[in-house]
Amino acid sequence: MEHTFDQEYWDGIWQGDRAAAMGAGEPNPHLVREVAELTPGTALDAGCGAGAEAVWLATRGWRVTGADIATEALERAAERAAAAGVSANVTWTPADLSTWEPDSRYDLVTTHYAHPAMPQLDFYDRLASWVAPGGTLLLVGHLHHDGTPGDHEHESVEPPASASATAATITARLDPDQWEVVTAQESQRSMPGHGTTVHDVVVRATRRH
Ligand SMILES: C[S@@+](CC[C@H](N)C(=O)[O-])C[C@H]1O[C@@H](n2cnc3c(N)ncnc32)[C@H](O)[C@@H]1O
Repeated sequence: MEHTFDQEYWDGIWQGDRAAAMGAGEPNPHLVREVAELTPGTALDAGCGAGAEAVWLATRGWRVTGADIATEALERAAERAAAAGVSANVTWTPADLSTWEPDSRYDLVTTHYAHPAMPQLDFYDRLASWVAPGGTLLLVGHLHHDGTPGDHEHESVEPPASASATAATITARLDPDQWEVVTAQESQRSMPGHGTTVHDVVVRATRRH
């Protein structure tokens, strides 16, 4: 069914049956792999949901802003941060990231599957503009994969084309004079406990200046 990924939609998701499962996950493996070697600084997790990634970053020494349009998600995220003992290192910000502007730039701007009610690549442009010189942009998103099936055991998750992108379309928007692309990867993985295969696109880039 067609719908808009607006605040009403996301509030409904975070107040609905799937919220507990969505909020219970481990930090995204792409984040853990890509960020492990970086020196902690300030970070923005855009569309942080229930906070698994923001809390993981905080435990690694990052000073994190977790921003999401759904206040219910941020309440779950704050509980997770408290349980992990890192509340002091995370600020939870209710924000519509299609219009919000930060007060300062971040050493790391990351997002994991956030897809607002605007073109996905335009959203990634916004996130890129919030990275400080020398900082890192890490985009983990739904891969546009033209219905490629999952493996035999797992149902393949197919988000709408408007909510997905490819490594080529993302990196084409990153001006090589301004960005060094470190990772541009397309992959699929099974979701533990979900019985589904997700198709991921991962782009990491460093801002030159
Ligand atoms: C698919 S969920 C992913 C949540 C989390 N990053 C994760 O990987 O589990 C997408 C998240 O983006 C948030 N989101 C969607 N549109 C947004 C917007 N315009 N501004 C801020 N957050 C938004 C949703 O509320 C939701 O928490």
